[in-house]
Amino acid sequence: MGMLQFLGHSAFYVEGSGIKALIDPFLSGNPCASEASTARASLDYIFVSHAHGDHLGDAVAIAERTGATVVATNELATWLAGRGLKTEGMHIGGRARFPFGRVKLTPAFHGSSMFEDGKMIYSDIPCGFLIEVEEKKIYHAGDTGLTVEMTLLEAEGVDVALIPIGGYYVMDVDDAVRAVDFIKPRRTVPIHYDTFPPIKADPNDFARKVGGRSEVTIMKPGDKLPF
Ligand code: NI
Ligand code: MN
Repeated sequence: MGMLQFLGHSAFYVEGSGIKALIDPFLSGNPCASEASTARASLDYIFVSHAHGDHLGDAVAIAERTGATVVATNELATWLAGRGLKTEGMHIGGRARFPFGRVKLTPAFHGSSMFEDGKMIYSDIPCGFLIEVEEKKIYHAGDTGLTVEMTLLEAEGVDVALIPIGGYYVMDVDDAVRAVDFIKPRRTVPIHYDTFPPIKADPNDFARKVGGRSEVTIMKPGDKLPF
């Protein structure tokens, strides 16, 4: 059985057969980050959906410390490889086999940039991840608005969908409910809300509006979800 631990905002720790990984490890500076998250001794992979600070987060420091491989879109992976990290530079729609299962990068409608020498540079196309662990499929949407491309995920048979609901930069509650209708995941976890004032949202409102169409699990930072 696999396990997902919510680390606040969009950050998760994933553990299963052949994998210990972080997704979007925004930990230091994250007002919602879980204490449990900071000191991982061993880690195989870090999945980074895009370079915005609340997703790339502590990825570089954690990868340097643990030797974990960073999985990202090719442009971001190349930039990180230039900093001496081990990377897998995949791209949107591409699927690859890893020792624990397959990974596919999914479209995310958003921007991505980073700061270098005090100047903002455009970095890459953001993505989401479809990650197979213990023969279950986890979909981490990354930062995205509602897109019709999400309808393609229904055929994948998503077991757990991690869906932003905070609005402003990403889907709001109502669009996130439509995303659930598109994806039809067995279970849905709302993410990317309440961390900062512009993304205040009510996860209970989201759960109510989803109704019985997907099992909604509202996670607090530190909470663990077996799958
Ligand atoms: Ni972003
Ligand atoms: Mn974000």
